Amino acid sequence: MTFLGIDIGTSGVKALLIDDNGKPVGDASAPAVEPVRPHPGWSEQNPNDWWTATLAAVDKLKASHPAELAKVRGIGLSGHMHGAVLLGKGDEILRPSILWNDGRSAAECLEMEAALPSLRDIAGNIAMPGFTAPKIAWVRKHEPDIYARIAKVLLPKAYVRLLLSGEHVEDMSDAAGTLWLDVAKRDWSDELLAVTGLNRSHMPRLVEGSAPSANLKREFAARWGMSGDVVIAGGAGDNAASACGIGAIRPGEGFVSLGTSGVLFVSNDKFRPNTKGAVHAFCHAIPDTWHQMGVILSATDSLNWLSRITGQKQADLSRAAEAQFKGPGEEIFLPYLSGERTPHNNARARGSFTGLSQSTEPAQLAQAVMEGVTFAMRDCQRVLSDAGTKIDRLLAVGGGSKSALWLKLLATNLDMEIALPEDGDFGGALGAARLGLCAATGANPADVMTMPPIKTVIAPDTSLSAAYSDQYARYRALYPAIEEAIS
Ligand code: XUL
Repeated sequence: MTFLGIDIGTSGVKALLIDDNGKPVGDASAPAVEPVRPHPGWSEQNPNDWWTATLAAVDKLKASHPAELAKVRGIGLSGHMHGAVLLGKGDEILRPSILWNDGRSAAECLEMEAALPSLRDIAGNIAMPGFTAPKIAWVRKHEPDIYARIAKVLLPKAYVRLLLSGEHVEDMSDAAGTLWLDVAKRDWSDELLAVTGLNRSHMPRLVEGSAPSANLKREFAARWGMSGDVVIAGGAGDNAASACGIGAIRPGEGFVSLGTSGVLFVSNDKFRPNTKGAVHAFCHAIPDTWHQMGVILSATDSLNWLSRITGQKQADLSRAAEAQFKGPGEEIFLPYLSGERTPHNNARARGSFTGLSQSTEPAQLAQAVMEGVTFAMRDCQRVLSDAGTKIDRLLAVGGGSKSALWLKLLATNLDMEIALPEDGDFGGALGAARLGLCAATGANPADVMTMPPIKTVIAPDTSLSAAYSDQYARYRALYPAIEEAIS
Protein backbone atom coordinates (compact mmCIF):
# COMPACT_ATOMS: atom_id res chain seq x y z
CA MET A 1 0.00 0.00 0.00
CA THR A 2 1.06 3.59 -0.61
CA PHE A 3 -0.49 6.94 0.28
CA LEU A 4 -0.47 10.18 -1.67
CA GLY A 5 -0.19 13.68 -0.21
CA ILE A 6 -1.12 16.62 -2.43
CA ASP A 7 -0.11 20.08 -1.21
CA ILE A 8 -1.84 22.90 -3.08
CA GLY A 9 0.32 25.99 -2.66
CA THR A 10 -0.06 29.49 -4.03
CA SER A 11 2.96 28.97 -6.28
CA GLY A 12 2.49 25.32 -7.20
CA VAL A 13 1.33 21.84 -6.29
CA LYS A 14 3.49 19.15 -4.77
CA ALA A 15 2.52 15.46 -4.80
CA LEU A 16 4.35 13.05 -2.47
CA LEU A 17 4.04 9.27 -2.13
CA ILE A 18 4.77 7.44 1.13
CA ASP A 19 4.81 3.72 1.84
CA ASP A 20 2.95 2.04 4.70
CA ASN A 21 5.84 2.83 7.06
CA GLY A 22 5.38 6.49 6.24
CA LYS A 23 8.65 6.66 4.27
CA PRO A 24 8.66 8.98 1.23
CA VAL A 25 9.07 6.98 -2.00
CA GLY A 26 8.64 9.62 -4.69
CA ASP A 27 7.48 13.13 -5.38
CA ALA A 28 6.67 15.51 -8.22
CA SER A 29 5.71 19.16 -8.49
CA ALA A 30 4.01 21.43 -10.98
CA PRO A 31 3.95 25.23 -10.90
CA ALA A 32 0.68 27.20 -10.70
CA VAL A 33 0.10 30.48 -12.50
CA GLU A 34 1.26 33.17 -10.02
CA PRO A 35 -1.50 35.15 -8.25
CA VAL A 36 -2.44 38.47 -9.85
CA ARG A 37 -2.69 41.77 -7.99
CA PRO A 38 -5.33 43.82 -9.83
CA HIS A 39 -4.99 46.59 -7.19
CA PRO A 40 -2.38 47.22 -4.46
CA GLY A 41 -3.17 44.88 -1.55
CA TRP A 42 -5.37 42.54 -3.64
CA SER A 43 -4.37 38.98 -4.54
CA GLU A 44 -6.37 36.60 -6.75
CA GLN A 45 -5.88 33.27 -8.48
CA ASN A 46 -8.02 31.15 -10.78
CA PRO A 47 -9.02 27.89 -9.00
CA ASN A 48 -8.64 26.02 -12.29
CA ASP A 49 -4.90 26.71 -12.12
CA TRP A 50 -4.68 24.63 -8.91
CA TRP A 51 -6.58 21.84 -10.65
CA THR A 52 -4.35 21.91 -13.74
CA ALA A 53 -1.24 21.86 -11.51
CA THR A 54 -2.69 19.01 -9.39
CA LEU A 55 -3.29 16.85 -12.46
CA ALA A 56 0.16 17.73 -13.83
CA ALA A 57 1.93 16.82 -10.56
CA VAL A 58 0.16 13.46 -10.16
CA ASP A 59 0.58 12.67 -13.88
CA LYS A 60 4.34 13.26 -13.41
CA LEU A 61 4.32 10.78 -10.52
CA LYS A 62 2.53 8.31 -12.78
CA ALA A 63 5.39 8.72 -15.29
CA SER A 64 8.20 8.41 -12.69
CA HIS A 65 6.66 5.95 -10.15
CA PRO A 66 3.85 4.03 -11.91
CA ALA A 67 4.04 0.91 -9.72
CA GLU A 68 4.07 2.86 -6.43
CA LEU A 69 1.25 5.17 -7.59
CA ALA A 70 -0.88 2.16 -8.57
CA LYS A 71 -0.74 0.97 -4.95
CA VAL A 72 -2.29 4.18 -3.49
CA ARG A 73 -5.10 3.42 -1.00
CA GLY A 74 -5.43 6.83 0.62
CA ILE A 75 -4.98 10.46 -0.45
CA GLY A 76 -4.56 13.50 1.80
CA LEU A 77 -4.92 17.12 0.71
CA SER A 78 -3.19 20.17 2.13
CA GLY A 79 -3.89 23.67 0.85
CA HIS A 80 -3.20 27.34 1.29
CA MET A 81 -5.82 28.56 3.71
CA HIS A 82 -8.64 31.11 3.68
CA GLY A 83 -9.01 31.60 -0.13
CA ALA A 84 -12.66 31.93 -1.19
CA VAL A 85 -13.82 29.77 -4.10
CA LEU A 86 -17.33 30.92 -5.00
CA LEU A 87 -19.45 28.35 -6.80
CA GLY A 88 -22.87 28.61 -8.43
CA LYS A 89 -25.65 25.99 -8.48
CA GLY A 90 -23.83 23.81 -11.02
CA ASP A 91 -20.50 24.15 -9.15
CA GLU A 92 -19.35 26.67 -11.75
CA ILE A 93 -16.69 29.18 -10.62
CA LEU A 94 -18.28 32.63 -10.21
CA ARG A 95 -15.10 34.77 -9.98
CA PRO A 96 -11.34 34.37 -9.35
CA SER A 97 -10.52 33.24 -5.82
CA ILE A 98 -9.63 36.03 -3.37
CA LEU A 99 -6.56 34.69 -1.52
CA TRP A 100 -5.18 34.55 2.03
CA ASN A 101 -2.86 37.52 1.42
CA ASP A 102 -5.56 39.82 0.01
CA GLY A 103 -6.26 42.82 2.22
CA ARG A 104 -9.23 44.46 0.50
CA SER A 105 -11.87 43.68 3.13
CA ALA A 106 -10.62 45.74 6.11
CA ALA A 107 -13.81 47.87 6.20
CA GLU A 108 -16.00 44.76 6.05
CA CYS A 109 -14.12 43.28 9.03
CA LEU A 110 -15.09 46.28 11.17
CA GLU A 111 -18.69 46.08 9.93
CA MET A 112 -18.89 42.36 10.74
CA GLU A 113 -17.60 42.86 14.29
CA ALA A 114 -20.09 45.71 14.80
CA ALA A 115 -22.95 43.56 13.47
CA LEU A 116 -22.16 40.66 15.83
CA PRO A 117 -20.40 41.84 19.01
CA SER A 118 -19.85 38.21 20.12
CA LEU A 119 -18.02 37.40 16.86
CA ARG A 120 -14.59 37.19 18.48
CA ASP A 121 -15.86 34.91 21.25
CA ILE A 122 -17.51 32.43 18.88
CA ALA A 123 -14.82 32.44 16.21
CA GLY A 124 -11.98 32.75 18.72
CA ASN A 125 -10.31 35.05 16.22
CA ILE A 126 -10.43 38.67 15.14
CA ALA A 127 -12.16 39.40 11.84
CA MET A 128 -9.10 39.82 9.61
CA PRO A 129 -9.17 40.52 5.86
CA GLY A 130 -7.12 37.36 5.26
CA PHE A 131 -9.96 35.15 6.49
CA THR A 132 -12.72 33.92 4.19
CA ALA A 133 -15.92 35.47 5.59
CA PRO A 134 -14.84 39.13 5.20
CA LYS A 135 -14.03 38.43 1.54
CA ILE A 136 -17.66 37.36 1.03
CA ALA A 137 -18.84 40.50 2.84
CA TRP A 138 -16.77 42.47 0.30
CA VAL A 139 -18.31 40.58 -2.64
CA ARG A 140 -21.79 41.13 -1.18
CA LYS A 141 -21.17 44.89 -1.12
CA HIS A 142 -19.18 45.37 -4.32
CA GLU A 143 -20.33 42.54 -6.62
CA PRO A 144 -23.98 41.94 -5.60
CA ASP A 145 -24.81 40.03 -8.80
CA ILE A 146 -22.09 37.49 -8.09
CA TYR A 147 -23.03 37.30 -4.40
CA ALA A 148 -26.66 36.51 -5.36
CA ARG A 149 -25.49 33.47 -7.36
CA ILE A 150 -23.38 31.88 -4.58
CA ALA A 151 -24.51 28.30 -3.88
CA LYS A 152 -21.34 27.08 -2.12
CA VAL A 153 -18.14 28.60 -0.75
CA LEU A 154 -15.13 26.28 -0.72
CA LEU A 155 -11.51 26.68 0.33
CA PRO A 156 -8.75 25.93 -2.21
CA LYS A 157 -8.13 22.29 -1.32
CA ALA A 158 -11.89 21.59 -0.97
CA TYR A 159 -12.30 22.77 -4.57
CA VAL A 160 -9.63 20.28 -5.70
CA ARG A 161 -11.38 17.59 -3.61
CA LEU A 162 -14.68 18.42 -5.34
CA LEU A 163 -13.11 17.75 -8.74
CA LEU A 164 -11.38 14.58 -7.50
CA SER A 165 -14.43 13.13 -5.75
CA GLY A 166 -17.59 15.06 -6.67
CA GLU A 167 -18.19 15.94 -2.99
CA HIS A 168 -18.26 19.20 -1.03
CA VAL A 169 -16.28 18.48 2.16
CA GLU A 170 -13.89 20.44 4.39
CA ASP A 171 -11.68 19.55 7.35
CA MET A 172 -11.73 21.35 10.71
CA SER A 173 -8.29 23.01 10.52
CA ASP A 174 -9.04 24.80 7.25
CA ALA A 175 -12.67 25.47 8.19
CA ALA A 176 -11.41 27.28 11.33
CA GLY A 177 -9.79 29.91 9.09
CA THR A 178 -13.08 30.92 7.48
CA LEU A 179 -14.46 32.83 10.49
CA TRP A 180 -17.70 30.85 10.09
CA LEU A 181 -16.66 28.05 12.42
CA ASP A 182 -17.39 27.80 16.13
CA VAL A 183 -13.81 26.71 16.74
CA ALA A 184 -14.39 25.35 20.26
CA LYS A 185 -17.38 23.24 19.11
CA ARG A 186 -15.83 22.21 15.76
CA ASP A 187 -19.08 23.03 13.94
CA TRP A 188 -20.36 25.77 11.61
CA SER A 189 -21.89 28.67 13.53
CA ASP A 190 -25.31 29.80 12.32
CA GLU A 191 -24.72 33.22 13.91
CA LEU A 192 -21.36 33.74 12.19
CA LEU A 193 -22.76 32.58 8.85
CA ALA A 194 -25.72 34.95 9.18
CA VAL A 195 -23.35 37.96 9.44
CA THR A 196 -22.48 37.43 5.77
CA GLY A 197 -26.03 36.43 4.81
CA LEU A 198 -25.13 32.74 4.39
CA ASN A 199 -26.32 29.54 6.04
CA ARG A 200 -25.22 25.91 6.37
CA SER A 201 -26.41 25.08 2.86
CA HIS A 202 -23.59 27.25 1.50
CA MET A 203 -20.97 25.32 3.46
CA PRO A 204 -19.28 21.98 2.74
CA ARG A 205 -19.81 19.00 5.08
CA LEU A 206 -17.24 18.93 7.92
CA VAL A 207 -14.90 16.05 8.80
CA GLU A 208 -11.77 15.68 10.93
CA GLY A 209 -8.53 15.90 8.92
CA SER A 210 -7.52 12.32 9.66
CA ALA A 211 -10.99 10.89 8.85
CA PRO A 212 -12.27 9.75 5.43
CA SER A 213 -14.05 12.51 3.49
CA ALA A 214 -14.90 10.95 0.11
CA ASN A 215 -13.64 8.44 -2.46
CA LEU A 216 -11.56 9.21 -5.55
CA LYS A 217 -13.68 9.15 -8.74
CA ARG A 218 -13.18 6.01 -10.84
CA GLU A 219 -11.95 8.04 -13.85
CA PHE A 220 -8.95 9.39 -11.87
CA ALA A 221 -8.21 6.03 -10.25
CA ALA A 222 -8.11 4.56 -13.78
CA ARG A 223 -5.97 7.46 -15.11
CA TRP A 224 -3.37 6.83 -12.38
CA GLY A 225 -3.57 3.01 -12.51
CA MET A 226 -5.18 2.62 -9.05
CA SER A 227 -7.70 -0.13 -8.38
CA GLY A 228 -10.37 -0.52 -5.69
CA ASP A 229 -11.63 2.29 -3.47
CA VAL A 230 -9.18 5.11 -2.83
CA VAL A 231 -10.12 7.12 0.27
CA ILE A 232 -9.53 10.88 0.43
CA ALA A 233 -8.84 12.11 3.98
CA GLY A 234 -10.24 15.38 5.32
CA GLY A 235 -6.68 16.73 5.05
CA ALA A 236 -5.55 20.04 6.52
CA GLY A 237 -4.81 23.69 5.96
CA ASP A 238 -1.15 23.96 4.94
CA ASN A 239 0.06 24.92 8.42
CA ALA A 240 -1.74 22.11 10.28
CA ALA A 241 -0.55 19.76 7.51
CA SER A 242 3.06 20.87 8.03
CA ALA A 243 2.61 20.25 11.75
CA CYS A 244 1.48 16.69 10.93
CA GLY A 245 4.54 16.35 8.68
CA ILE A 246 6.99 17.34 11.42
CA GLY A 247 5.13 15.61 14.24
CA ALA A 248 3.89 18.71 16.09
CA ILE A 249 0.61 17.41 17.49
CA ARG A 250 1.18 17.37 21.27
CA PRO A 251 0.87 20.50 23.46
CA GLY A 252 3.93 22.77 23.21
CA GLU A 253 5.27 21.19 20.01
CA GLY A 254 5.61 23.66 17.20
CA PHE A 255 7.40 24.94 14.16
CA VAL A 256 8.62 28.15 12.67
CA SER A 257 7.99 28.36 8.95
CA LEU A 258 9.82 30.72 6.62
CA GLY A 259 7.76 30.34 3.46
CA THR A 260 5.98 32.99 1.38
CA SER A 261 4.22 33.75 4.67
CA GLY A 262 5.91 33.30 8.04
CA VAL A 263 4.28 31.20 10.74
CA LEU A 264 5.00 30.43 14.37
CA PHE A 265 2.81 27.41 15.12
CA VAL A 266 2.19 25.60 18.41
CA SER A 267 -0.19 22.71 19.21
CA ASN A 268 -2.65 22.92 22.11
CA ASP A 269 -4.78 20.35 23.88
CA LYS A 270 -7.51 22.97 24.34
CA PHE A 271 -8.96 25.81 22.33
CA ARG A 272 -6.96 28.87 23.46
CA PRO A 273 -7.88 32.15 21.82
CA ASN A 274 -5.96 35.42 22.32
CA THR A 275 -7.67 37.90 20.07
CA LYS A 276 -5.86 40.89 21.66
CA GLY A 277 -2.54 39.92 20.12
CA ALA A 278 -4.09 38.91 16.77
CA VAL A 279 -3.19 35.30 17.52
CA HIS A 280 -4.84 32.74 15.22
CA ALA A 281 -6.55 30.01 17.32
CA PHE A 282 -7.67 27.17 15.05
CA CYS A 283 -8.57 23.46 15.14
CA HIS A 284 -5.72 21.07 14.43
CA ALA A 285 -6.17 18.38 11.75
CA ILE A 286 -6.67 15.59 14.28
CA PRO A 287 -9.62 15.20 16.69
CA ASP A 288 -9.71 17.03 20.06
CA THR A 289 -6.60 19.07 19.25
CA TRP A 290 -6.24 22.77 18.52
CA HIS A 291 -3.37 25.06 17.67
CA GLN A 292 -2.30 28.69 17.82
CA MET A 293 -0.30 30.59 15.25
CA GLY A 294 1.23 33.97 14.76
CA VAL A 295 1.14 34.70 11.03
CA ILE A 296 3.13 37.29 9.11
CA LEU A 297 2.29 37.84 5.47
CA SER A 298 5.70 38.42 3.83
CA ALA A 299 8.55 36.18 5.01
CA THR A 300 10.57 34.83 2.08
CA ASP A 301 8.28 37.01 0.00
CA SER A 302 10.18 40.01 1.44
CA LEU A 303 13.47 38.61 0.14
CA ASN A 304 11.73 37.79 -3.17
CA TRP A 305 10.75 41.41 -3.44
CA LEU A 306 14.31 42.62 -2.69
CA SER A 307 15.64 40.17 -5.26
CA ARG A 308 13.18 41.46 -7.85
CA ILE A 309 14.00 45.12 -7.37
CA THR A 310 17.79 44.68 -7.09
CA GLY A 311 17.98 42.17 -9.95
CA GLN A 312 20.06 39.85 -7.73
CA LYS A 313 19.16 36.22 -7.09
CA GLN A 314 17.72 35.47 -3.66
CA ALA A 315 20.45 32.93 -2.93
CA ASP A 316 23.15 35.48 -3.88
CA LEU A 317 21.57 38.10 -1.64
CA SER A 318 21.49 35.78 1.36
CA ARG A 319 25.07 34.62 0.70
CA ALA A 320 26.23 38.26 0.52
CA ALA A 321 24.38 39.07 3.77
CA GLU A 322 26.02 36.12 5.49
CA ALA A 323 29.52 36.97 4.22
CA GLN A 324 29.51 40.49 5.72
CA PHE A 325 27.48 39.67 8.89
CA LYS A 326 28.84 41.21 12.12
CA GLY A 327 25.60 41.58 14.12
CA PRO A 328 22.85 44.18 13.79
CA GLY A 329 23.66 47.13 11.53
CA GLU A 330 22.03 50.54 11.06
CA GLU A 331 19.36 49.42 8.59
CA ILE A 332 15.99 48.23 9.89
CA PHE A 333 13.23 46.74 7.73
CA LEU A 334 9.52 46.46 8.55
CA PRO A 335 8.26 43.51 6.46
CA TYR A 336 4.69 44.69 5.96
CA LEU A 337 4.74 44.55 2.15
CA SER A 338 1.27 42.93 2.04
CA GLY A 339 -0.07 44.48 5.27
CA GLU A 340 0.28 42.50 8.48
CA ARG A 341 -1.76 40.07 10.57
CA THR A 342 0.09 39.28 13.81
CA PRO A 343 0.45 41.40 15.88
CA HIS A 344 -0.91 44.54 14.17
CA ASN A 345 -3.93 43.26 12.21
CA ASN A 346 -3.52 46.08 9.70
CA ALA A 347 -4.08 45.22 6.05
CA ARG A 348 -3.10 48.73 5.04
CA ALA A 349 0.30 48.66 6.74
CA ARG A 350 3.20 48.82 4.30
CA GLY A 351 6.88 47.95 4.47
CA SER A 352 9.65 50.36 5.34
CA PHE A 353 13.43 50.68 5.42
CA THR A 354 15.04 53.04 7.92
CA GLY A 355 18.67 53.76 8.78
CA LEU A 356 19.86 53.90 5.16
CA SER A 357 23.18 55.61 4.47
CA GLN A 358 25.71 56.04 1.68
CA SER A 359 27.32 52.79 2.78
CA THR A 360 24.15 50.70 2.49
CA GLU A 361 24.63 47.99 -0.14
CA PRO A 362 22.22 45.23 -1.21
CA ALA A 363 23.97 42.87 1.25
CA GLN A 364 23.03 45.14 4.18
CA LEU A 365 19.48 45.44 2.85
CA ALA A 366 19.28 41.63 2.65
CA GLN A 367 20.49 41.30 6.24
CA ALA A 368 17.94 43.90 7.37
CA VAL A 369 15.18 42.02 5.51
CA MET A 370 16.10 38.74 7.24
CA GLU A 371 16.26 40.56 10.58
CA GLY A 372 12.93 42.33 9.98
CA VAL A 373 11.23 39.00 9.29
CA THR A 374 12.95 37.54 12.37
CA PHE A 375 11.72 40.43 14.55
CA ALA A 376 8.21 39.90 13.18
CA MET A 377 8.47 36.26 14.32
CA ARG A 378 9.73 37.53 17.70
CA ASP A 379 6.54 39.63 17.87
CA CYS A 380 4.55 36.42 17.22
CA GLN A 381 6.36 34.63 20.04
CA ARG A 382 5.62 37.56 22.36
CA VAL A 383 1.86 37.49 21.73
CA LEU A 384 1.71 33.69 21.98
CA SER A 385 3.42 33.92 25.33
CA ASP A 386 0.98 36.71 26.37
CA ALA A 387 -1.70 34.07 25.69
CA GLY A 388 0.02 31.86 28.25
CA THR A 389 1.55 29.55 25.68
CA LYS A 390 4.97 28.05 26.19
CA ILE A 391 6.70 26.56 23.18
CA ASP A 392 8.72 23.50 24.21
CA ARG A 393 10.08 22.44 20.86
CA LEU A 394 10.54 24.24 17.54
CA LEU A 395 11.48 22.82 14.17
CA ALA A 396 12.26 25.06 11.21
CA VAL A 397 10.54 24.47 7.86
CA GLY A 398 10.11 26.37 4.60
CA GLY A 399 12.50 27.73 1.95
CA GLY A 400 14.04 30.35 4.27
CA SER A 401 15.29 27.61 6.62
CA LYS A 402 17.98 26.81 4.05
CA SER A 403 19.82 29.95 5.22
CA ALA A 404 22.15 29.31 8.17
CA LEU A 405 22.17 33.04 8.97
CA TRP A 406 18.38 33.24 9.09
CA LEU A 407 18.23 30.25 11.45
CA LYS A 408 20.88 31.80 13.73
CA LEU A 409 18.93 35.07 13.80
CA LEU A 410 15.75 33.17 14.69
CA ALA A 411 17.34 31.05 17.44
CA THR A 412 19.01 34.14 18.96
CA ASN A 413 15.90 36.31 18.83
CA LEU A 414 13.41 33.64 19.96
CA ASP A 415 16.02 32.67 22.56
CA MET A 416 15.49 28.97 22.01
CA GLU A 417 17.04 26.07 20.15
CA ILE A 418 15.67 25.43 16.68
CA ALA A 419 15.92 21.97 15.14
CA LEU A 420 16.40 21.62 11.41
CA PRO A 421 15.10 18.38 9.87
CA GLU A 422 17.33 16.34 7.59
CA ASP A 423 17.07 17.21 3.91
CA GLY A 424 13.81 16.10 2.45
CA ASP A 425 10.27 17.28 2.51
CA PHE A 426 8.64 17.55 5.88
CA GLY A 427 6.06 20.08 4.84
CA GLY A 428 2.41 20.04 3.93
CA ALA A 429 2.65 17.21 1.36
CA LEU A 430 4.09 14.76 3.92
CA GLY A 431 1.52 15.76 6.53
CA ALA A 432 -1.24 15.33 3.95
CA ALA A 433 0.06 11.87 2.95
CA ARG A 434 0.14 10.89 6.64
CA LEU A 435 -3.50 12.03 7.01
CA GLY A 436 -4.34 9.92 3.92
CA LEU A 437 -2.70 6.93 5.62
CA CYS A 438 -4.73 7.46 8.82
CA ALA A 439 -8.01 7.82 6.89
CA ALA A 440 -7.41 4.72 4.76
CA THR A 441 -6.08 2.39 7.47
CA GLY A 442 -7.62 3.76 10.67
CA ALA A 443 -4.10 4.16 12.15
CA ASN A 444 -3.80 6.30 15.27
CA PRO A 445 -2.49 9.78 14.25
CA ALA A 446 -0.22 9.84 17.34
CA ASP A 447 1.65 6.80 15.96
CA VAL A 448 1.92 8.23 12.46
CA MET A 449 2.78 11.92 13.04
CA THR A 450 6.31 11.39 14.31
CA MET A 451 9.22 13.83 14.32
CA PRO A 452 11.56 13.53 11.31
CA PRO A 453 15.29 12.85 11.78
CA ILE A 454 17.07 16.06 12.81
CA LYS A 455 20.09 17.29 10.84
CA THR A 456 21.26 19.98 13.21
CA VAL A 457 20.12 21.97 16.21
CA ILE A 458 20.82 25.69 16.08
CA ALA A 459 21.44 27.31 19.47
CA PRO A 460 21.00 31.02 20.24
CA ASP A 461 24.23 33.01 19.77
CA THR A 462 24.34 34.55 23.24
CA SER A 463 27.16 36.91 22.24
CA LEU A 464 24.55 38.66 20.03
CA SER A 465 21.55 38.49 22.40
CA ALA A 466 21.95 41.93 23.99
CA ALA A 467 22.60 43.67 20.66
CA TYR A 468 19.50 42.03 19.19
CA SER A 469 17.35 42.94 22.17
CA ASP A 470 18.32 46.58 21.56
CA GLN A 471 17.68 46.31 17.82
CA TYR A 472 14.31 44.61 18.45
CA ALA A 473 13.35 47.46 20.77
CA ARG A 474 14.17 49.94 17.96
CA TYR A 475 12.18 47.78 15.50
CA ARG A 476 9.17 47.71 17.84
CA ALA A 477 9.25 51.47 18.31
CA LEU A 478 9.16 52.11 14.57
CA TYR A 479 5.66 50.84 13.70
CA PRO A 480 3.75 53.04 16.18
CA ALA A 481 5.96 55.98 15.20
CA ILE A 482 5.21 55.73 11.48
CA GLU A 483 1.93 53.82 11.49
CA GLU A 484 -0.04 56.70 10.03
CA ALA A 485 2.46 57.29 7.27
CA ILE A 486 2.58 53.67 6.14
CA SER A 487 -1.09 52.70 6.55
C1 XUL B 1 -2.32 31.20 7.53
C2 XUL B 1 -2.08 31.81 6.20
C3 XUL B 1 -0.96 31.35 5.37
C4 XUL B 1 -1.46 30.56 4.21
C5 XUL B 1 -0.30 30.35 3.28
O1 XUL B 1 -3.31 31.82 8.26
O2 XUL B 1 -2.81 32.66 5.74
O3 XUL B 1 0.00 30.65 6.10
O4 XUL B 1 -2.06 29.38 4.65
O5 XUL B 1 -0.38 29.30 2.52
